[in-house]
Amino acid sequence: MARHLITSAIPYINGIKHLGNLIGSQLPADLYARYQRGRGHEVMFLCATDEHGTPAELAAAKAGKPVAEYCAEMHGIQAEIAKGFRLSFDHFGRSSSPQNHALTQHFAGRLHDAGLIEEVSERQVYSNADGRFLPDRYIEGTCPNCGYEKARGDQCENCTKQLEPTDLINPRSAISGSTDLEVRETKHLYLKQSQMKGKLDDWINSKTDWPVLTTSIAKKWLHDGDGLQDRGITRDLDWGIPVKNGDADWPGMEGKVFYVWFDAPIEYIACAGEWAEANGGDWERWWRTDKGAEDVRYTQFMGKDNVPFHTLSFPATIMGSGEPWKLVDYIKSFNYLNYDGGQFSTSQGRGVFMDQALEILPADYWRWWLLSHAPESSDSEFTWENFQASVNKDLADVLGNFVSRVTKFCRSKFGEEVPAGGAYTDAETALIADLTTRIRAYEGHMDAMEVRKSANELRAIWVAGNEYLQAAAPWSTFKEDPDQAATQIRLALNLIRLYAVLSKPFIPDASATLMTAMQTQDEAWPDDVAAALELLQPGHAFTVPDVTFRKITDDERADWQERFSGTRD
Ligand code: MF3
Ligand code: ZN
Repeated sequence: MARHLITSAIPYINGIKHLGNLIGSQLPADLYARYQRGRGHEVMFLCATDEHGTPAELAAAKAGKPVAEYCAEMHGIQAEIAKGFRLSFDHFGRSSSPQNHALTQHFAGRLHDAGLIEEVSERQVYSNADGRFLPDRYIEGTCPNCGYEKARGDQCENCTKQLEPTDLINPRSAISGSTDLEVRETKHLYLKQSQMKGKLDDWINSKTDWPVLTTSIAKKWLHDGDGLQDRGITRDLDWGIPVKNGDADWPGMEGKVFYVWFDAPIEYIACAGEWAEANGGDWERWWRTDKGAEDVRYTQFMGKDNVPFHTLSFPATIMGSGEPWKLVDYIKSFNYLNYDGGQFSTSQGRGVFMDQALEILPADYWRWWLLSHAPESSDSEFTWENFQASVNKDLADVLGNFVSRVTKFCRSKFGEEVPAGGAYTDAETALIADLTTRIRAYEGHMDAMEVRKSANELRAIWVAGNEYLQAAAPWSTFKEDPDQAATQIRLALNLIRLYAVLSKPFIPDASATLMTAMQTQDEAWPDDVAAALELLQPGHAFTVPDVTFRKITDDERADWQERFSGTRD
C-alpha cells in the first residue's frame, strides 16, 4: 500500500468559485484522490481557503463585515459547496488558522537564520484618508501614455502599458477615491530566492516526467530576463499573519503582515495540522521526511497561473528552511476553461458559478462534463450544446440506459435476483478480454493523471458493455434459450457493480446508487476482471434503481443559456 499526499490549490476566500476554477484544481485532485483510495492506497487529500490579502479585506468591506467574520462565513459557504460537488477532502482548512500563523512565522525565522532574508526600504504610496498603504493596483489615475482615466498603478488596461503608481496623472485611491496621497518610506522583508537559483534549477531539471506545461513555466521564470528575482514577503496591511521571527517579535516590522503568497502554500502543511487537531492522528508522518514522510508520494494540482509559486517560491521556502519537509513529487497543472465564446470571470460575474451549477443539476452531471473536457493540452470551452450532448449521450444513453435495460429485463423475466445461467460463450470471453485491456489502460491513464484520456477510456468501457448487450440481445435469446439469456444477464448485472467501482472517481453519487441497487458494498478493484464479474453470485438480490441519469431537454438548454448569458449581480 502506497501513501499519497494530494493537495489542490487553495481557493481565494472572496466569493464563490466558477466552474473554470473547479476544473483547474479541486476537481481533478478529487478524481485522483478517489482513484488512489479505490486502488486501496492510503490518501491524505487537503484543501483550504486562501484568506489573506487585500482582495479579502476589500470583499469584507463591500459586504459591510469585519474581515475575520466575513472569512469565517465564506469558509462555511465554500465548504458546503465543496460537499455538494462531493469533493472528498480529508480536511478543508483555513489559511488563517493558528497552525498556519505559527508555521509561517516559523519558516520566516528559519529563512532568516539561514541568511536568506533581507530587509529593504521602499517608497510606497500611502493614503491619508484610508489610513493605509495602497497596493499598486489600488491606485487609479490617468494613463500618461494614452490618457485613459481609469488606469491602475500597475498597468493601463486600455493600452496595456506597464506602469509605476507614480507615473499616473491625478492619482487617487481606488478604495475611497481620495486624492490625499503621499509617498512614504516603508521597510519590507525580501526572500533571497536568487541565491537558490542553482538548487531550484537542478531540482526542476531532475523532474523529467513532469508535464511540459509545468516545467516550461518554471524554466521561463528561472531563466528569462534577469532570472529569478528576490521576492517581497511582507505587506503593510492589517489582515494577515503578523510578521514575527518564530515566536519572537521582528524589530522594525511591527504592524506588518506576511504577503498572502508567502503564507498560502504553507497552509498545505498547516492544514495537515488542522486535520490532526480535528480528527486525531499524526500529521508529521505526511510532511516530515524524518518522521515517516520519506515514502509519501506528494502530488499538487493547480491552474497554470499558480505554477511559478509552486515550482519556485514555495520550494525556495522549504529548501531554504534547511529542515526535512516533504517536497512535491509531481505537479499537475491545467490550462483555462473558457465560457461560451469568452472567459469565465469572477470580477465580471461571467459564466456558471459552483452554487448555481448545483441549483440546476446534480454534481455528477458537472463532474462528468468538466473532467471529460479538462483543459489539459490546451484551453477548452464550455458550451451548453456540448454539455447537453455529452450528458445525454454518455451518461443517459450509454451508462444509464445499460443499467436500466439490464435490471428491468431481469426483474421481468427472472425476478429481482441474479439468475444462474450456465457457461460463457465466445461473446462473454471476448468481452472479458476487451474489458481487461481497457481497464488496464484506464488504470495507466489515471495513474498518469491524464484526465481526458481516463474519461475516454471509462466511456469506452461503458460502451463495450452496451455493445455486448446489444449483440447478445437476451430479450431474443430468452425465447429459445432462457438459460443462455440468464448467463448474459448474470454477467451484465455484475458489470453494473464493476461500472460502479470504476466510475466512482468521476461520478460518485451514481456509483453509490448502483452499489445500493446491486445490494453490495464490495468495492474491490477489478484486478482480475473475470473474477470481478462473478462477484454477485446466482441468487443475490438486487433492486431496479430509479433513473440514474436523465436527459437535458432542448428547452432547458435554451433556458440556461439565456439565464447565464449576462453577468451575475
Ligand atoms: N488562491 C490562489 C488562487 O486561487 C491559489 C493559492 S495556492 C497556494 O489562485 F499554494 F498558495 F496555496
Ligand atoms: Zn494607457
